[in-house]
Amino acid sequence: MRRVLDSRSRPLRDLRISVTDRCNFRCTYCMPKEIFGRDFAFLPREQLLTFEEITRLTRTFACQGVSKVRLTGGEPLLRRDLEQLVAMLAGIDEITDVALTTNGSALAGKAKTLKDAGLTRVTVSLDALDDQTFAAMNDVGFPVARVLAGIDAARAAGLVPVKVNTVVKRGVNDHGITEMADHFRGSGHILRFIEYMDVGTTNGWRMDHVVPAAEIIAAINERWPLAPLEPNYAGEVASRYRYRDGAGEIGVIASVTQPFCSACSRARVSADGKLYTCLFAAQGHDLRALLRSGANDHELATRLRAIWSDRADRYSELRHSNTTDRPKIEMSYIGG
Ligand code: GTP
Ligand code: 5AD
Ligand code: SF4
Ligand code: SF4
Repeated sequence: MRRVLDSRSRPLRDLRISVTDRCNFRCTYCMPKEIFGRDFAFLPREQLLTFEEITRLTRTFACQGVSKVRLTGGEPLLRRDLEQLVAMLAGIDEITDVALTTNGSALAGKAKTLKDAGLTRVTVSLDALDDQTFAAMNDVGFPVARVLAGIDAARAAGLVPVKVNTVVKRGVNDHGITEMADHFRGSGHILRFIEYMDVGTTNGWRMDHVVPAAEIIAAINERWPLAPLEPNYAGEVASRYRYRDGAGEIGVIASVTQPFCSACSRARVSADGKLYTCLFAAQGHDLRALLRSGANDHELATRLRAIWSDRADRYSELRHSNTTDRPKIEMSYIGG
């Protein structure tokens, strides 16, 4: 294995792979209905990387120091036979962690199969505990109970601890912060609140929609005193806290108010095989073309190393009012 550092001395450690750009939700902060409607052009099947192509790419990344893979979407469980891909990735020697980020809608029926295939962890997005607020976020009227059933199934399958991600949007679901905390306290699951980010160009993001992580932590701390925890690893995106009464752990992802670019070791591959070195990148590097042109492993590795060595991204550290309208890829395309 040969490690590679980018131009700011950050290693390549973490690979996030989007397996589809489709989703059965229309979260207003990610896939607003007015844009992602009936005639939106999603990727046709032949443009998606096959499981074999994804596995080959992952093997090449693994040789450059990647040990963690996270499958994302859109909604990754919409990709047929995903457990086969999980098994293929889990079979790569250097890959010790195969995780999944899902909206949970189909998890109840699939958690056990995924665990048996070699999935190590799952993160479920859930933005509210009451159907009315959740519907205002997912915009398809999806019921909370079915996502909670998915979380229960993940626990029963041994995919523990489950992480639960809540995007907070001012005036929409921020009234539910302490209710969420109360629900997951003592459950063994790890709830994380995410600051609403200006990903993509379609969600109408404004700074005053963002509830700063410090405000979220203050509200919870007032009810149930918290103490900060050390990060699990360098570059962890979530800041962790424990409940002083022993009811477990909670986190915040403060990408807007406390950016964490200085330790960002994440590469992202879109469902059609483009490599992005930042969530806020305007352009990707076409790895599919290289794969399909018959490049050998050495050529692939050389290309990956060249792209990573060149990397200078630190969007969140440079964000200001007029960075929000430059071209950027959409979250549903790159998977967060
Ligand atoms: P583990 O620590 O491995 O459990 O995973 P994680 O917390 O990195 O993964 P997860 O997908 O749960 O990340 C949570 C959310 O944080 C993502 O969905 C994004 O919204 C946000 N996020 C993750 N990585 C980045 C990043 O590199 N930059 C920014 N700006 N946001 C990120
Ligand atoms: N800001 C913050 N988080 C977002 N997510 C999607 N769009 C945004 C955004 N604009 C979250 C989802 C999910 C993860 C993939 O990213 O809710 O938890
Ligand atoms: Fe789908 Fe996740 Fe985007 Fe919501 S945030 S529309 S669940 S991909
Ligand atoms: Fe990494 Fe870009 Fe996010 Fe900064 S903004 S943490 S460089 S993905």
